[in-house]
Amino acid sequence: MQGEESAAFAIVVKYHATSVFDAQWESKVEIQDKVVVITGGANGIGKALAIRFKAAGAKHIVVADLDGAGASAVAREVDGTAEQIDVSREADIQRVIETTENTIGPIDLFCSNAGIAKADSLDSPNDEWQLIWDVNVMSHMYAARHLVPRMVKRGGGYLLNTCSAAGLLNQIGGAAYGVTKHAAVGLGEWIALTYAHQGIRVSLLCPQAVRTAMTSGEAMNNKGIAAAAADGMIEAEVLAESVIEGLADERFLILPHPEVVTYMQRKTADYDRWIRGMNRFHQSLYADEAKT
Ligand SMILES: NC(=O)c1ccc[n+]([C@@H]2O[C@H](COP(=O)([O-])OP(=O)(O)OC[C@H]3O[C@@H](n4cnc5c(N)ncnc54)[C@H](O)[C@@H]3O)[C@@H](O)[C@H]2O)c1
Repeated sequence: MQGEESAAFAIVVKYHATSVFDAQWESKVEIQDKVVVITGGANGIGKALAIRFKAAGAKHIVVADLDGAGASAVAREVDGTAEQIDVSREADIQRVIETTENTIGPIDLFCSNAGIAKADSLDSPNDEWQLIWDVNVMSHMYAARHLVPRMVKRGGGYLLNTCSAAGLLNQIGGAAYGVTKHAAVGLGEWIALTYAHQGIRVSLLCPQAVRTAMTSGEAMNNKGIAAAAADGMIEAEVLAESVIEGLADERFLILPHPEVVTYMQRKTADYDRWIRGMNRFHQSLYADEAKT
């Protein structure tokens, strides 16, 4: 882009950023009386969100999870309903959206939270790469595909997509996790920038380590996860508080670990230096293993 064009582009962006969008983003989101769906709601972060949303006065919470028994237990705890669902299957997500809207009411907040960690390296089998892609990325797309048109028709709605700091800063020792979380961030950005003027709000939840099944037991054998945990492991209940605050502010990035902003700034300020630093970190973690 040449000088003048670039200046004009900057003015257009500034105009839209300060006038049109601000005017549309005045209203703040409260959980009170909202119909909420949470995928991956049976355990960990999803369960903590369900309990916190109930305390905040949600009208109804649908707990959707592969773990049907776990979903039922959490649903009982929050006086909600449970759905046994595999988020990698579009038909399952469509069914939950249709059932909820037909029997309970319009979904105000859909939390695409279910996620997995798999396919840590280039050697990992293709079916593992495909599965994590379907669970961590396509599930967000399926939810948006079936819900955004309904929300647009009624003037708006909210998508809270659990990504990860790994979607902004990558994941040492977790190839497909870093890749799929970046893709989930890209999708969330795209939905936000495409539908903001039609009332669609998007927040991406991007924590570092949170104490759940994903960061306990055998998971900690992964040196990248263990290293992320060393930077500070927070409880899911603490994370749920930052989600309440982030939603109230309609913040696009919800960062329960505030240092992630600094890491992002370092990355964008000097990308090559950041890659070199991450490589040194990788080498230090895997020093005792054969070089790859
Ligand atoms: N724990 C962390 O440190 C951390 C950090 C950043 C992001 N995250 C993200 O937070 C989200 C929740 O993870 P968590 O830490 O609570 O883990 P968790 O393992 O405790 O919970 C994940 C839930 O998702 C469900 N699930 C998995 N595959 C599913 C599928 N195909 N369909 C439906 N449900 C499925 C599981 O049954 C489980 O209840 C994930 O997207 C994860 O990537 C976690």
